[in-house]
Amino acid sequence: MPPKKKIDSQDLPVWFHPTAPLGSAVRYVAGLSAKFNWVGIYVLRGKFLELGPYLGAPSEHTRIPVGTGVCGTAVAENADQNVADVRERENYLACSLETRSELVVLIRDRQGEILGQIDIDSHTPGAFGPAEEEQVRKVAQELGELWPA
Ligand code: SME
Repeated sequence: MPPKKKIDSQDLPVWFHPTAPLGSAVRYVAGLSAKFNWVGIYVLRGKFLELGPYLGAPSEHTRIPVGTGVCGTAVAENADQNVADVRERENYLACSLETRSELVVLIRDRQGEILGQIDIDSHTPGAFGPAEEEQVRKVAQELGELWPA
């Protein structure tokens, strides 16, 4: 067997920091738009999403059951969530009273298993268009491939 190809540093995404993979992704995503007022990563552990690194106001939702809130719905339905106005979602879990829109993008491994999610809150209604979704999905895909074991 040929030796396993080492990951060349040139192949790594610009945002990636090997000692803080999740934190470096959060920092990078938070810098993508001034409309991203809260950015965090939830890690899926069993039937719960546990809050990892985040930037923004502290959230009381540090452990969310799968199926609850916008975050838990993303996992239960195996689908990203783009909520233009959080007041329209009955199951929304408020992190900040100022939040108007929210984007949740799932992080998956190469087999498609859900590892966690990138969650973004904005004070601006409808802050997440196709361009923002694409940017965040790219980071989620890269992070899924570089996910710490
Ligand atoms: N709004 C989320 C909870 C997480 S906070 O926004 C940080 C939800 O409804 O699941």
